[in-house]
Amino acid sequence: MIIVCDKCSSRFKLDTRLINKTFFKVRCSKCKHVFSVDTLESEEVYELDQISQEPQLKVIAICSHKGGVAKTSTCLNLGVALSMLNKRILLIDFDVQANLSLLLGQRNEHSFYEIIQEKVQVSKAIKSVRKNVWLLPSNSRMALLAKQCLQQKDFGFFLRKALEPIKEHFDYILVDTPPSVKFFTPNALIAADFVIVPTQCEFLAMNGVLQTENIIKAVSKTHPLEYKVLITMYNDENTASKVIYSKLKQKYNQKIFKTLINYDSKMQESQIVNQPIAYYDKTASSALQYHQLAKEIELI
Ligand SMILES: Nc1ncnc2c1ncn2[C@@H]1O[C@H](COP(=O)(O)OP(=O)(O)OP(=O)(O)O)[C@@H](O)[C@H]1O
Ligand SMILES: [Mg+2]
Repeated sequence: MIIVCDKCSSRFKLDTRLINKTFFKVRCSKCKHVFSVDTLESEEVYELDQISQEPQLKVIAICSHKGGVAKTSTCLNLGVALSMLNKRILLIDFDVQANLSLLLGQRNEHSFYEIIQEKVQVSKAIKSVRKNVWLLPSNSRMALLAKQCLQQKDFGFFLRKALEPIKEHFDYILVDTPPSVKFFTPNALIAADFVIVPTQCEFLAMNGVLQTENIIKAVSKTHPLEYKVLITMYNDENTASKVIYSKLKQKYNQKIFKTLINYDSKMQESQIVNQPIAYYDKTASSALQYHQLAKEIELI
């Protein structure tokens, strides 16, 4: 049962099998407010923080204005790393390139386009691709979405609305986005609770982070959104990489993930055989780092 604190709106998952009363009171572990979960009064008060608290973070958009910074690789491998921590993960390929679908061996399946066209239900379009991992694929028809929908005044809310009926089935939903900002990025950001901004330690990539940050801030005005920068394809033997890394750390401070992802040729090998890195070689440096990143995400 989901309980929402009527003072601070924190959400909690309460296992009602632990309580043998029909009506009871609870105390919010965040703001300490005590309230009844039903209209009838009871003398019993249960501590909500003694019972499992539902994580609020659910939908994570992976966005960058810059191409080729490992958005898709992060979506796949972070998702798989979270699934190995026993989380139920939905990956959404929200990019016409359909690279995420391709990496999972899915070609020309139903996508978000067919959902919007009401040709298929969202639950039917989703495919099970690994243990604890599901995928909403992309296909080339997704390109038509931007043209057909940009005129509609609520076009930015399409993904958010589509996820509503299925959200509760997953612990995390990860949305892979393209580098363009037109239809897909606003939809992903409005559907999201949190954004990961991957970047390489290169001079021009820093500019990509800045532009992406501006888009996130614009969306945040109406829709609260947290974000963190993720360093990808890091090469610690490269002086320029080290310099840019220290600049990024200075600028983004708390807004940069502690975990960074190294450049790892095993990652590229794994993609040739359509395997997430943790399945291809769980001892590879990038596999261990995405596992570490998954643990960092759990703490947010
Ligand atoms: N840790 C890594 N080590 C080595 N190569 C990597 C790593 N992560 C990603 N790559 C490679 O970098 C390239 C770009 O990665 P990816 O497709 O994930 O980026 P992207 O940001 O999604 O690109 P796009 O903007 O086109 O969608 C791919 O060839 C991928 O194999
Ligand atoms: Mg991509």
